[in-house]
Amino acid sequence: MTTSASGLNAKPEALGRVTFLDGQGELPMLEVSTAWSTAAIYLHGAHVTQFKKKDEPPLLFLSQCSRFAEGRPIRGGIPVIFPWFGPREGLAQHGFARVKAWDLKEFAPAPDGSVSVRFRLPECPEAAAFPAFTADYIVTVNQSLTLQFVITNQSRDAEFIFENCLHSYFEVGDVTAISIGGLKGVNYFDTIASFVEKTEASDALRIASEVDRIYLNATGTVEIRDPRLGRKILVEKQGSASTVVWNPWIAKARQMPDFGDEEYERMICVESGNVASNTITLPPGGSSTLTVKLSSETLK
Ligand code: BG6
Repeated sequence: MTTSASGLNAKPEALGRVTFLDGQGELPMLEVSTAWSTAAIYLHGAHVTQFKKKDEPPLLFLSQCSRFAEGRPIRGGIPVIFPWFGPREGLAQHGFARVKAWDLKEFAPAPDGSVSVRFRLPECPEAAAFPAFTADYIVTVNQSLTLQFVITNQSRDAEFIFENCLHSYFEVGDVTAISIGGLKGVNYFDTIASFVEKTEASDALRIASEVDRIYLNATGTVEIRDPRLGRKILVEKQGSASTVVWNPWIAKARQMPDFGDEEYERMICVESGNVASNTITLPPGGSSTLTVKLSSETLK
């Protein structure tokens, strides 16, 4: 099914389109195309697996070895991490939202050529451990990719305590050639050094080994400069106090069944959310929105 441009006062070619397809593993997905870009979104995990501007390489990294199966997370793109981040005793790492089939609630091509698609996390047994809540995810495609993750505590009397994270994997030409700016002076937990707390000293972080860092109280824009692909990626955010930077490097890449041994060279995760000491506590009836805008520019 393809949406029609009829009824909107704009040139049809300037309007976005949404097409429904069977994706890999026969999982249902949407392809969104606009005058500037295309995007692919699976209902499984409300997972954006690709965003590509015309005449540019893909923005997002997607592993050639990813699984596409019910109950399994997709490796690459933008996993939606919720309601917890990282391991949790006896439970799946990074929460259950990324392995649930989300409901497609609406999609709307706007007169300016953008397309927005809204998903909602369906009721599921795992959610019963938490106060009643709703989780909506709105993906807007145009020259950039904007993600809004809205959590509302529907309980009348209980606080809802949760972590969230939009775990974006970016495609880079060579991870050892990139630099990551925007984190200087920010404190972080170094996950691979037993969670020792450190302060980022560099305004142009380079990757030359495994990196797994949770930057706390990190609200600023992060910039990834990629000389090999000749572009700069901007990660702008609101309602996010944490930034996570992750690259598994050689040994961990080999241990991961759904990730190619050499793929660490072509990706970097810069994730936006609220985790660890930035965990969110929502009062009864309260709502929180995490907004992330991903864009790219030619490197001058
Ligand atoms: C990152 C974590 O966010 O996700 C890492 O900081 C973790 O510790 C990585 O290894 C990937 O997690 P998963 O569950 O998708 O393999």
